[in-house]
Amino acid sequence: MEHGAFGPGLDRVYSMKIVAGNSNPLLAESVSEQLGIPLAHGTIRRFSDMEVFVEIQENVRGEDVFVIQSTSYPVNDNLMELLVVIDALRRGSARRITAVMPYFGYARQDRKPAPRTPISAKLVANMITAAGADRVLTMDLHAGQIQGFFDIPVDNLYAAPIFARDVKHRLPGENNITVVSPDVGGVVRARAVAKRLDADLAIIDKRRERAGVSEVMNIIGDVEGRRCILIDDIVDSGGTLCNAAVALMKNGAQEVYAYITHGVLSGGAVSRIVDSPLKKLIVTNSIAATEAVKAAENIEQLSIAPLLAEAIQRISTETSVSSLFD
Ligand code: R5P
Repeated sequence: MEHGAFGPGLDRVYSMKIVAGNSNPLLAESVSEQLGIPLAHGTIRRFSDMEVFVEIQENVRGEDVFVIQSTSYPVNDNLMELLVVIDALRRGSARRITAVMPYFGYARQDRKPAPRTPISAKLVANMITAAGADRVLTMDLHAGQIQGFFDIPVDNLYAAPIFARDVKHRLPGENNITVVSPDVGGVVRARAVAKRLDADLAIIDKRRERAGVSEVMNIIGDVEGRRCILIDDIVDSGGTLCNAAVALMKNGAQEVYAYITHGVLSGGAVSRIVDSPLKKLIVTNSIAATEAVKAAENIEQLSIAPLLAEAIQRISTETSVSSLFD
């Protein structure tokens, strides 16, 4: 091989490494399989007081390294693991470090809802950058502008194409679909899916007329006799989702499905969903499924591993990631 004008080494084709945190090992393995690159050897241990210790057991000098770690439950432990792994890689002279966070925890704290409250999403972005990440790859950020909290490049993938494909597969030839946003804030996300399905759009407008009076759910759009598909970025307690499903059924919907990117599903969410009128809740595996989620008859997971693998490949080869949204 001929060397460039600056001598040996600069023509080198850098290779890629995939490092997995403990938050979602199955997703990391699946991404590594898709890429045909084994996960890098390393250990993440805890001292007896739960301090995180990381040792990367193979050379990463000059490598393009992708660390796969959702900052899901237990959020603070998983975040700290990510930071410590990034630090270990930086000190191991990795050429570029990408924090692959399919679910970005703390994203909901993206503004001050009241005086003297934090903007923790910004704080977490600062921590990831300070640890040494060169870029971030994530999915369906709670608010797109969180990208601006980072002063490093952020690629924000969308689950909409995966959801639309699954709807077409699940309800073939169905033209009686209304895509529903469970709140006014989620309209853009729901519209993206409605457009791909060439379906109608409805919006649930939650209003509390006076303090102390219970919330009224007004549905803007036609849902009577329709197969409704709720779209959201996060299902946490399941309150938003189950209330929306009840309101749609009360307004004459034929059946209600939900496609939600991040299944946080904390507290009693799973049993709330099992007992709800939802025909099916489909979440992605951005967050690992708990045993309760696996056992729930009306909850399913869709894999984002092929999409993440493709995005990682494109970042590594410096090709367009946005064309993945088409
Ligand atoms: C709100 O803006 C989000 O998009 C979700 O609707 C919300 O986080 C869901 O939370 P929960 O399941 O606890 O109602």
